[in-house]
Amino acid sequence: MKRFSLNRQLIIAVVASQVLLAAGLVLVGTSLSRHYIRSAFDVYIQGRAQSIAALVYFRDDGVPGLLFNDAKVPPSPHHIHKDIFLVKSDHGDFAQHSPGTDPRFFDQVPATKRFWDFEIEGEPYRAIILRDVAVLDTEVGEPLPLPRLTVFYAAPTMDIEQQMRNLAIAIGVLGLLVLVPTLILALWSMRRALAPLKDLATAASAISVDRWKFEPSDAAKSTEELVPLIGAVQTVLEGLEAAFTRQRQFLGDAAHELKTSLAILKSSLQAMLNKPRQREEYEHGLAVMSGDCDRLERLLNRMLQTARAEQRIAKGQDYVPDPVDVVASCEQAIARLAQFAAAREVVMEFTASSEAIVLAEAADLELIWLNLLENAIQYSPRGATIAMNLVADGRSVAVSVADHGCGIDAAHLPHIFKRFYRVDSSRARSTGGFGLGLAVAKSLVDFYQGRIRAASEPGSGTCITVELPLHSGSAGNDHDTGEGIKTRVFSAG
Ligand SMILES: Nc1ncnc2c1ncn2[C@@H]1O[C@H](COP(=O)(O)OP(=O)(O)O)[C@@H](O)[C@H]1O
Ligand SMILES: [Mg+2]
Repeated sequence: MKRFSLNRQLIIAVVASQVLLAAGLVLVGTSLSRHYIRSAFDVYIQGRAQSIAALVYFRDDGVPGLLFNDAKVPPSPHHIHKDIFLVKSDHGDFAQHSPGTDPRFFDQVPATKRFWDFEIEGEPYRAIILRDVAVLDTEVGEPLPLPRLTVFYAAPTMDIEQQMRNLAIAIGVLGLLVLVPTLILALWSMRRALAPLKDLATAASAISVDRWKFEPSDAAKSTEELVPLIGAVQTVLEGLEAAFTRQRQFLGDAAHELKTSLAILKSSLQAMLNKPRQREEYEHGLAVMSGDCDRLERLLNRMLQTARAEQRIAKGQDYVPDPVDVVASCEQAIARLAQFAAAREVVMEFTASSEAIVLAEAADLELIWLNLLENAIQYSPRGATIAMNLVADGRSVAVSVADHGCGIDAAHLPHIFKRFYRVDSSRARSTGGFGLGLAVAKSLVDFYQGRIRAASEPGSGTCITVELPLHSGSAGNDHDTGEGIKTRVFSAG
């Protein structure tokens, strides 16, 4: 993918917009000033034309007609390119023009225009033509209608052209002078505004699997637009770090467990091989090794269960479970462990005060009960009773498994849900535990937005309780028996 720099793009955008703005201002400035200079010039030639008209007067010797006062013609500002004028009466008996102008020139004057731009010997001129002007002079005895005047007045425009050019240059230079500092200012503030983003990128690039710290600068943290991004990155990182550390730990623990199990198997094998033995000894040895293999198999099963529970969490919200009957699920788990319990002469009692439906996968739910019951059986003395109890209120169902076994010391209680955590690993080895059962149960309970907690009294027993949210609309109905209580007892055969 083609890379592009935010910085460069912004610089181009800022420079382009500033140059465009400056060019626009120069354009507007010059055209406005051109307009005003031209208007002032037009007012000037109009004044001149009116003063020419004022120089026309009636004869005072009794003969009708008009005369012109030559002597009072205002002098031209230019000596070489002089102003030219023509004033004539509509009676056709009077016309006066500027000295030195060929009268045939005035034949080209447009008949209707008020202003006219033209050239004389390459010199630009602008003219005004005033029509139907009254003679200012008053004369009694003049025959009616009184004559009306047409005045033509033209002046060279090279001065104002020069003025306009100078002004355009001045505005242009001024525009450039303003452009440079504003550009510098804009680039400087842009750089400043982008600095937190750069800091953030630097902080993000410092993250690695060995260094999960994300430390954005204060500038980045106080930038309003970056706050949600920083928050999101921090949350993701914390989750990732926890998951990564968990995985690393799991891998280490799993490898250790597997190695131990393999070492046991290997030592059994070597003991068999180190000298020739009797047939009975070989048979006994093979039975021991078969037991070791069972243990290894159980460990792998547990690890698969753990991985499956993890996958549930990874699947997250996309996963939509089905409604499951918790009472039936508990009964199924009890039935599955009936033989195991019988072998240990342990009695399981199940009490349910109502029905309960939760949204979960049936196999997951059963696995939770299996793990709790298995522990209760394993850690109970012979002849003991285990009580599994289900109660539901409007929102959740609580299932507890209580035993009268050895109990768990308060120091260990907070850790029993951790993976591979065993209170007494030597005893656990004899009972076949790997410290994964409760961890799997907790992962599943967490996934279904429930809670799991343990209470224990060393020497007198343990009670593990799982709370799960009820499927809405299924709030515990009383069970079918008279007192609304259902009790099943599964005892040793
Ligand atoms: N009902 C119980 N009574 C006494 N100790 C228990 C009980 N349940 C769990 N524990 C303790 O918690 C530890 C973790 O349990 P668990 O995760 O099921 O692992 P394990 O595979 O060892 O049974 C066990 O090793 C055991 O020491
Ligand atoms: Mg267990």
